[in-house]
Amino acid sequence: MLRVAVIGSGPSGVYTAQALVGQEAVPDVEVYVLDRLPCPYGLVRYGVAPDHEKIKSLQHNLRTVLEHPRVHFLGNVDVGAGGLDPRELRRLFHAVVYCVGAATDRHLGIPGEGLPGSHSATGFVSWYSAHPDAADGRFPLAARSAVVIGVGNVAVDVARVLARGADELARTDVPQAALGALAESRVEDVWMVGRRGPSQAKFTTKELRELGTLPGADVAVRPEELALDPAYHDSAGLPAVNRRNVDVLRDWAGKTDGAGDAGRAGRETERAPGAVQAKRRRIHLRFFLRPVEIIGDRGSGVRGVRFERTVPDGSGGVTGTGQYEEIAAQLVLRSVGYKGAPQPGLPFDAATGTVPHAEGRVLRDGVPFPGEYVAGWIKRGPTGVIGTNRPCAKQTAAALLADADTLAREPLPDDPVAGLRRAGQQPVRWPGWLRIEAAEAALGRELGRTTVKIADWPGLLVAAADGER
Ligand SMILES: Cc1cc2nc3c(=O)[nH]c(=O)nc-3n(C[C@H](O)[C@H](O)[C@H](O)COP(=O)(O)OP(=O)(O)OC[C@H]3O[C@@H](n4cnc5c(N)ncnc54)[C@H](O)[C@@H]3O)c2cc1C
Ligand SMILES: NC(=O)c1ccc[n+]([C@@H]2O[C@H](COP(=O)([O-])OP(=O)(O)OC[C@H]3O[C@@H](n4cnc5c(N)ncnc54)[C@H](OP(=O)(O)O)[C@@H]3O)[C@@H](O)[C@H]2O)c1
Repeated sequence: MLRVAVIGSGPSGVYTAQALVGQEAVPDVEVYVLDRLPCPYGLVRYGVAPDHEKIKSLQHNLRTVLEHPRVHFLGNVDVGAGGLDPRELRRLFHAVVYCVGAATDRHLGIPGEGLPGSHSATGFVSWYSAHPDAADGRFPLAARSAVVIGVGNVAVDVARVLARGADELARTDVPQAALGALAESRVEDVWMVGRRGPSQAKFTTKELRELGTLPGADVAVRPEELALDPAYHDSAGLPAVNRRNVDVLRDWAGKTDGAGDAGRAGRETERAPGAVQAKRRRIHLRFFLRPVEIIGDRGSGVRGVRFERTVPDGSGGVTGTGQYEEIAAQLVLRSVGYKGAPQPGLPFDAATGTVPHAEGRVLRDGVPFPGEYVAGWIKRGPTGVIGTNRPCAKQTAAALLADADTLAREPLPDDPVAGLRRAGQQPVRWPGWLRIEAAEAALGRELGRTTVKIADWPGLLVAAADGER
């Protein structure tokens, strides 16, 4: 028997469990998937945008793994500082695979970043996704103008959520408090700003195109700004995704009214006389603007963002021009990427926010450490879609299985769950999670919506325990 603890029940944790129990070379592998939250699925539950129901439904695939007879979900077990001592894990399991993701956000390192009204996209996503650590989220949605810094897929998600109407979001599982706040939102202009050019934007084309289909928002681009990018004129040599992005932006630019706005909207700040009736909101896609300062004061909060205009440097980067532009905004969402956090007891590369590894085996001073592994974002860094984690997890599982003979020699106590309880943990087991699911479905019925997520720790833990005794 080989008993493995997988820490984290996001895609990489679940795919690791799947790879471990879905092979026959090493029979009798038992996998315990631990998560600090009482709910499984990581960013599929707490990151994937609520209006992307199809991607969210990947939870059904992950679920079948967690219901495998040799896979055991144990929620509400926080490994590390203030929680379970990782050394305890090594006493209870032959091997530990850390699949803890990238929990924090990257910083811009510019003045004003900490002003009221300046938030990380990570925090905003957690809030509308009902992450229980974000239940107290307060975002100034009385703002008329919001700037989103960054042009990756997370930036597109938060821009789209800001631009959607409450009636559209009410059909999703957004928690009731966030829905109420978004329903009262006065945001009219959402500016999504990249420091480089359109051909270097990180968003994918499907996500970009979707912005042009929102019932309540127009998209605005500036043809002259797009044209600064040499690849805008000749995109043939670009990777397919960048080429398609440029095509979409060129198409939108072709539909501008001559005042810089695609589709039906007028100028960015004021309607062009005689313009067709515009939608209530506008998403402005801006490029070649590097953020240098978030402007405002502690008393009244953010007033805008100061950018330096940039130009391509000929080798994929940009250089500053010494010309500046301010975009007025009362809400700023910094969407410049996630970052892994150090995990107590594990080596950590602060520059990349990852754990050093060789094919998934944790490296201590450059040497593989038997029994400790990593997969997912804590292994590769915070890039890649859900599916990217599958081959990554398979590689880690293969390394672990190759070490199985040595690892399985260690004698272990009979019942790891009892061991976790003795160590002060109160795991939420699979039936507890199913009770949370049932409570969320009941809440949805009560509110006349579909499933509505429970957004706070006490609510989740009460629901998990309901009827247990
Ligand atoms: C906002 C956002 C939206 C996204 N949308 C999409 C999308 O639409 N489509 C797509 O394909 N990809 C999307 N992605 C990418 C995708 O979510 C990631 O590739 C994937 O979730 C990474 O998987 P992971 O298992 O490494 O990390 P995560 O999904 O973050 O899972 C990590 C798990 O570890 C747990 N954990 C952390 N620390 C501890 C600890 N100390 N003890 C115990 N448990 C712990 C966490 O609670 C979490 O459940 C999105 C990413 C983000 C940030
Ligand atoms: N629907 C989906 O499939 C979906 C949804 C959400 C997330 N995801 C995935 O999740 C991963 C993470 O997404 P992400 O959007 O957080 O990260 P990302 O794709 O790495 O994008 C980060 C953005 O921040 C910008 N940036 C970084 N540092 C900056 C700085 N100092 N100043 C200004 N801009 C800066 C980057 O610009 P530069 O390029 O110039 O560095 C880039 O535009 C990605 O792989 C993404 O595809 C997928």
